[in-house]
Amino acid sequence: MPDDESVFSRLQYETSANLRIRARMHQHYSTNPQGWAGWVWERMAIRPRMAILEIGCGDGALWRAHAQGLPAGCSILLTDLSAGMASAAFGTLAGELLSVAVADAVALPCSSESLDLVIANHMLYHVPDRAAALREIQRVLRPGGRLCATTVGVEHMREMHHWLIAACGRPLTPAMLHLPSFTLQSGAAELSRCFADVTREDYPDSLCVPDVDPVLDYMRSMWSALMGQEETRRLKETLRRELAEQGAIRIHKESGMLVAFKGGRGA
Ligand SMILES: C[S@@+](CC[C@H](N)C(=O)[O-])C[C@H]1O[C@@H](n2cnc3c(N)ncnc32)[C@H](O)[C@@H]1O
Repeated sequence: MPDDESVFSRLQYETSANLRIRARMHQHYSTNPQGWAGWVWERMAIRPRMAILEIGCGDGALWRAHAQGLPAGCSILLTDLSAGMASAAFGTLAGELLSVAVADAVALPCSSESLDLVIANHMLYHVPDRAAALREIQRVLRPGGRLCATTVGVEHMREMHHWLIAACGRPLTPAMLHLPSFTLQSGAAELSRCFADVTREDYPDSLCVPDVDPVLDYMRSMWSALMGQEETRRLKETLRRELAEQGAIRIHKESGMLVAFKGGRGA
């Protein structure tokens, strides 16, 4: 029987619409001028002839800017549990030297010890049997191969959680807020059970939004079940007040990457 979080995740990612609303807000209103995608790309350190798998690839956004300039001879497979997401990734990247497939992180369509790099960006917290997914990633990596997994920290978007709780007028459980179970704080210890040499690097950033609507759209893309008419009216009021008092709606972000090696670096 699937748990509530699996049901949420399946509905949430049936298509790329919700993910795109949130990506748009990050692209337009983030304060770090480098940009998340560029920062992640640098850390992936792709070299010629690498065999690479991205799991939970979403709409393939990570590859959009780089698909044409990939180092020579790389083989790259993007996978996602959602057929809608895989098809969006295929649509974005059709004609590029990448393959796309529908696959669950716990059953990867790759032979054992065949990959140099597995990428799991903002997705491990959605996998109900994460231990099985981590074993599967370990199986497909060659000795010395690398896992790059981005995720969020416990402070990520904390203002949105406070505003939502205030608008609902009652406490909301971590499950109702969809707080992730695999974070920058908890993830390193979890990865250390399967991998060696685990490191964490944070990407300093925040949001500074000059308008109420993008914040409301973002919140609706996550918590529409909690946002009835009255809750939405209260949220609008709060956001307008924030805007009037501070000149912008400011939101804390905490994101980063955990890097881990199968059997240690250079094994
Ligand atoms: C927050 S999105 C991240 C998408 C992309 N990696 C990014 O960083 O923009 C999470 C993605 O993980 C996928 N996903 C959830 N559970 C999964 C699973 N068990 N196996 C593979 N993909 C999964 C969802 O369909 C969704 O596309």
